[in-house]
Amino acid sequence: MSFIMESDKFKLGVLIILAVSFIAYSFDLYISQPMDGIEKAESGSLEEQGKILWQQKNCISCHQLYGLGGHLGPDLTNISSQRSPEHIEAFLIGGTNVMPNFHLSEHEIEALKAFLKSVDESGKGDPRTFKQNLDGTISQ
Ligand code: HEC
Repeated sequence: MSFIMESDKFKLGVLIILAVSFIAYSFDLYISQPMDGIEKAESGSLEEQGKILWQQKNCISCHQLYGLGGHLGPDLTNISSQRSPEHIEAFLIGGTNVMPNFHLSEHEIEALKAFLKSVDESGKGDPRTFKQNLDGTISQ
């Protein structure tokens, strides 16, 4: 009988620990800001800041990277080697009739240019030029 009592106490102890952990973790999630990680990333390299801006401004809704994304604007994977920095800047400073003006600061424009340059260096954007391997993967 006393053995059963001991195991019940143990179960109750485990249950309390789980319940307290659950409540503490839920509380932590509730009070944490969804942008916490992003704020940290902003202190990263220029290129990383550009990536965050790319996501925040949702450039992918109109542009593609590696052939994926929206189709209102052109694929920007290799824009850095196709166009001059001044050309890219011109679009980022003022937008066009179709592309919105994001009112970016000079630093933000530099960051986006650095991000686009790093994407350019990572490979080719046009999926039609990708080589299909026998195992279903692709290579460039
Ligand atoms: C609402 C859709 C839209 C969004 C959002 C958008 N763009 Fe564009 N962008 C366009 C269109 C459309 C063009 C082509 C514009 C034209 O020819 O008038 C363009 C052109 C460009 C060009 C020049 C491309 C070339 O081949 O000359 C760059 C660079 C560019 N966008 C960067 C960006 C960046 C960076 C962002 C995010 C901060 C962004 N765009 C967000 C629609 C968009």
